[in-house]
Formats: sequence, C-alpha cells, structure tokens
Amino acid sequence: MRTCRYAARARNDGEHVTKRIVSLIVNGRHREEAVADNTLLLDYLRETLALTGTKRGCDGGECGACTVLVDGEPRLACITLAARCEGRRIETIEALATDGRMSRLQAAFHEKLGTQCGFCTPGMIMAAEALLRKNAAPGEAEIRDALSGNLCRCTGYVKIIESVQAAVAPPATAGSTGGAQR
Ligand code: FES
Ligand code: FES
Repeated sequence: MRTCRYAARARNDGEHVTKRIVSLIVNGRHREEAVADNTLLLDYLRETLALTGTKRGCDGGECGACTVLVDGEPRLACITLAARCEGRRIETIEALATDGRMSRLQAAFHEKLGTQCGFCTPGMIMAAEALLRKNAAPGEAEIRDALSGNLCRCTGYVKIIESVQAAVAPPATAGSTGGAQR
C-alpha cells in the first residue's frame, strides 16, 4: 500500500485534523489533492469534485445509495475514507454515459421504469454495473444478490430487476448501430 504524504495540520473544533495529499483516479481523471484524514469518500466526491450523482441516503452503510466502484468493486462511499483510496480507481455514475448518451444499463432503467424518485438509482446502477462486468449473463437470483445491499422505497424492486435483465439482453432494434455501453 502506498504511503500518503502529510500535507498540513489544522485545528477543527479543538482537535488536530491531519490532511494529506491523496492521489487517485476518479472517472478516468487523475486527482491529487489534500484531504483531511476524516473526509469520507462521499463528501470528497460530492463536495470537492461536485460529483453529486452519488447520493447520501442513510449516511450509515445501510441503504446503498452512495455505492461507487473502487477498483471495479462496489463500495459504500459513506463509510469509506477518501484517504484510504490512495492509488485507487474510483468510478461514479457520472462515468457511465458517453458523449451525453446513457449506457445500456442506464437506458434500461429508464425504459423499464426501474427508477421512480431516482434517489436510489445511481447506487443501484453502480452495483449492477459491477455485477455485469463480472457476469455478462446473471440470473435473477444473482441480480437480486448483487443488489441486496441497495434499498428502494419506491419501486418494489421488480422493475429494477427487470431493468438489469433488459441490459443483459441483446439490443432489441435490429437496425441498431450497436456499440452502446452497458
Ligand atoms: S448513504 Fe451510504 S449506505 Fe446509505
Ligand atoms: S426509485 Fe425512489 S428510492 Fe428507489
């Protein structure tokens, strides 16, 4: 594991807060900046990088709304320290669209009504994305298992499962140019 470089010490409510320079790759772009030891990855993404697609739900590791990919694995950004991501590759929901065009998985959620209020959707999609990268044709049980840590209060989950299944299936339009990302 790479050693982070200490950047500064500051007082915060009477306590010393250590900052350190952290290097990581977020959505394909190299980042290097000072973050406090206690900065959560969720706050770093939303507040420092303005990547607000990643949602804060329970803020306690229970709902999955903050799911991002760390080196391709789904992780809860609300219980992950940014400083622990030194040298890691982070992917958020903002990484999935290409040139403003939704990925196949995103489009499937839209077309199959897998999203209602949409608050859980980025976390759901990132968890499903991780699954589909490992398993191009998961069964329903595998999809449900992969999404078991993601809560939705709107859809009843059936539409979400159908959305992931639709992303697995080949494109429906025979004349499609294809090439859509998952
Ligand atoms: S906000 Fe992270 S698990 Fe709920
Ligand atoms: S669509 Fe509203 S919480 Fe899932």
